[in-house]
Parts: sequence; C-alpha cells; structure tokens
Amino acid sequence: MKTRWLSGLGILIRSNPVMEGIRGGVGKLNGFSGMRGKAGIPVRMPRNIRRIGLRVLRDGRAVLRRGRNAPRFAAELVRHPRTVGAICPSGAQLAASMAACIPDGEGLVIEIGAGTGAVTRAILARGVAPSRLLVLERSPEFCRILRGKFPELNVVQGDAALLSSYVSETDAVLAVVSSLPLMNFPSALRGAILEQIQKVIGGRGCVIQFTYALLGESPYARNGFRRDILRFIPRNLPPARVERFWLPSACRHSAA
Ligand SMILES: C[S@@+](CC[C@H](N)C(=O)[O-])C[C@H]1O[C@@H](n2cnc3c(N)ncnc32)[C@H](O)[C@@H]1O
Repeated sequence: MKTRWLSGLGILIRSNPVMEGIRGGVGKLNGFSGMRGKAGIPVRMPRNIRRIGLRVLRDGRAVLRRGRNAPRFAAELVRHPRTVGAICPSGAQLAASMAACIPDGEGLVIEIGAGTGAVTRAILARGVAPSRLLVLERSPEFCRILRGKFPELNVVQGDAALLSSYVSETDAVLAVVSSLPLMNFPSALRGAILEQIQKVIGGRGCVIQFTYALLGESPYARNGFRRDILRFIPRNLPPARVERFWLPSACRHSAA
C-alpha cells in the first residue's frame, strides 16, 4: 500500500499538475496518469489531493476542480515560488498537528506565513480565542483571502523579518506558529527572521515550524533553539515534519 502511495506521489510530482492546470485553465489534464500505477491498478492518492484542485474521474483521468483556494494558491506559487514554497495549502492533519503543539496558557499566538488559512483554522479549532491570535502574511492576495475567511482576526500584511514591529512590547507571546519555507530563503533573511522570532518569544514562548525537509537539522537547532516535539505527517502532500522549539532560557520545555 505504501509503495503504491509513493508511486502515485512520484507520478503526481513529475506530472506537475499545478503548472499544467495553470496552462490549461480549468479543464482536463491531458495525459495525466497519476491515478494509475504501472500495471493499470488505481493508486491510492494522499488525502489532501483535493487541495491542489484535482478531481478524479471514473475512467482514471484527473480534472481540475473549480476550487476555492487551490487555484489562487497556485497563482501565488507561480508569482513567488521561493516565498510560497509549497504546491498546495497545508493538509488538515498537518494543520491540526501544528495547532496541537501550542501549549496551554495565556498569551499571544502569532501565525506567520498563513497562506490561505488552513493552519489558522486549526489554531482557532485548538481553542485559541480570535483576540489572542495575530496573523502575519506577506502576500496581499493571501491577506485578502484570510480577511474574507476570518473577519474576526487581526490579519497583518507584513514581513516576518520585521515581526517584532507588529507586536506590542507588553504582549507576552505564547507561541509563534510558522509555515514559512525557511529553507528556501537566503541565509541572511532566514537569520533575520530567526532573530525576530527569538526577540518576540523571549524566555517564555515557543516556535512551531513545519517543513517538507524530512531529514536534516532545522535552522532553529543550528541557532541555539532546543526541540521538544518532532512529528512526521506522512499523509500530507508532500509529507511534512512538525517541530516545536524553545530558547534555552525558557525553563518549561522538556528536551526531546
Ligand atoms: C508554505 S506557504 C503557507 C501555507 C499555509 N499553511 C496554507 O495552508 O496555506 C508559506 C507562506 O509564507 C508566506 N511568506 C513567505 N515569506 C514571508 C515573510 N517574509 N513574511 C510573512 N509571510 C511570508 C507566503 O506568502 C506563503 O503564504
């Protein structure tokens, strides 16, 4: 079963349905065979395939759905591939896993790189009151979508490299939840963002980050943060890992 799933994922990535879809508009993806394995056996696709805007027909062909987020996400991806850094919005399981890492307690939760709001929704479902959630997103188009979906939230269009300027000094930050594709960023920008996160969480808060890089040391670990949670989400598209970090001065974390 696992092999079939991986084979399907490989074909899907090689077929590059997002780019195909943009070229072809909402219509048939000619020649797309990602739904069938080598022997013509239907392969099991990841649960969040719908999030990239595909619908599978009975004859095995895939067509683009008239979706809500997927086409807009794809359009942003084409415009800003390095900063969007994902082929589709985060899956529900990944989003829930990120949200579950938010510790209990008072304080501000800041989401950075909220995209079209999959993780935002999970944070609210985790029980964080809208008044305690600050959402930061660089893309004006994604901000427009986020404000439409979550009119009760404070959605700020801005740059994570200036994070501390959006947070009042009197705000105690409980958690920063980041979907930023940090590994895509030049090291100077990555360093600036980590410095800003460090500044806002201080010795009290934590940072929760997901990445599609399943192996290798996180930039947080390389910069003195300590990890206490590591989870793999194999059924996400693409598979992802979620980690939670604290600064050494935060006394309440337990090292993994
Ligand atoms: C992997 S996508 C987010 C996916 C999101 N969890 C979802 O489900 O839609 C990364 C997001 O980070 C945003 N981003 C990239 N660089 C940023 C920056 N410097 N400051 C704020 N947001 C940024 C991108 O615009 C994009 O929406």
